[in-house]
Amino acid sequence: MSKTWSNRFEGALDPFIQRFNSSIDFDKELILEDIDCSIAHARMLSNTKVINKEESVKIVDGLKQIKKDFENNLFDPIYPSEDIHYCIEEKLISLIGDIGKKLHTGRSRNDQVGTDLRLWLRHKIDLIDSLIETLQRSLFAKAEQNLYTLIPGYTHLQRAQPLSLAHHLLAYLEMFKRDRARLVDLRKRVNISPLGAAALAGTKINIDRYMTANELGFQDVYKNSIDAVSDRDFTVEFTCSASLVMAHLSRLSEEIIFWVTDEFSFATLTDVCSTGSSLMPQKKNPDVPELIRGKTGRVYGNLQALLTMIKGLPLAYNKDFQEDKESIFDTVKTVEDCLKAMTILLEKGLIFNKDNLMNSVEQDFSNATDVADYLVEKNVPFREAYQIVGNIVRKCLKEKCLIKNLSLQEFKKFHLDFENDIFMKISPVNVVNSRNSLGGTGFDRVSEELITWKSELFS
Ligand code: ARG
Repeated sequence: MSKTWSNRFEGALDPFIQRFNSSIDFDKELILEDIDCSIAHARMLSNTKVINKEESVKIVDGLKQIKKDFENNLFDPIYPSEDIHYCIEEKLISLIGDIGKKLHTGRSRNDQVGTDLRLWLRHKIDLIDSLIETLQRSLFAKAEQNLYTLIPGYTHLQRAQPLSLAHHLLAYLEMFKRDRARLVDLRKRVNISPLGAAALAGTKINIDRYMTANELGFQDVYKNSIDAVSDRDFTVEFTCSASLVMAHLSRLSEEIIFWVTDEFSFATLTDVCSTGSSLMPQKKNPDVPELIRGKTGRVYGNLQALLTMIKGLPLAYNKDFQEDKESIFDTVKTVEDCLKAMTILLEKGLIFNKDNLMNSVEQDFSNATDVADYLVEKNVPFREAYQIVGNIVRKCLKEKCLIKNLSLQEFKKFHLDFENDIFMKISPVNVVNSRNSLGGTGFDRVSEELITWKSELFS
């Protein structure tokens, strides 16, 4: 291997330190972006007459050859190259000779690595956005099938009021919509070119930063060379948004985990997405949502690592930045995998037990608010009605019955305005259907939302 640094160095690195310093094992992930970045740089250098046309053609052809070899598994960037940037440069020089030594004119690995990482992440942001959209479509399909399926709604994980299952699922669509909006927004700040900032101060070489930025599809260039090589805000912003994606996946996972318990039995896992126990033959475990819930911690950990990594760094580049790669790569892989797994789970791994769901909302006091609202409609002040229904519930609990089991005479003992229609008014379907306020669970409201979502996701 050629010697990496300048002739200033006389001795060789300690072998352990050489390994310790190297990032090739993980930053080879950036190989294609590194090559694209170099191609743009070489073309620009010839455009500004820093190198001649012939030299730039040789360099670009050499780089394209490396790309092809990599894609055909004929080239594997590995140690002892220090990092992917040196590795490609060394490979280029070995392919085309001394002309390859001109490639690094007017740039540094500091602006180069920042450019590569932004290109890589920009692509991954688009991928994650489309994976979230696919997940939203699967959630939507389940919602559309379950407009009239009822599910107990909870607060404090205590039965609160019954809901349309579609309404419950559409809540997750809203969360994922915000996640996508965050990605779209932060993408703008990822899509700025640091290339040409060189080591930290810019360069006296005649470069055209707008040309390379354009060629690489960047929206703009960093205006300050020091900031350009020191800014890792975008890695934090991305990991923060990814953390929220994971939080939403994890909350959904948690619900699925208890929905499929014997105690809830709101849903069943198919064999496609469940696993057994090595000891207990009866077991069917929800490993997929458990893994998603568990992996959420990794992404939060990556966010913490990145925040801590940048907090005490003086301007400009510091080698600490090399540590951003693994956090970002792991975050992207984790989010990607979890989105795919959740989509498969929703599409073929989870079946709602509609009968159990419908039955479960019949067996509780989640219609108590509606008894109070019934009296409100008869002009009883709400606070008074609320106390009356509290007494009704207490009586039922004592007699181990539900509100609907009381006779009209018994109702009338609590308030004379109760009439026979109370029984219809407190049936779960009517309870849900009557909550027609904007954003509520009433079937009319939810079906309007389904129509809006359908056009948003499928047109
Ligand atoms: N491998 C380095 C990184 O990931 C590349 C930049 C090295 N720059 C330097 N001045 N040592 O950050």
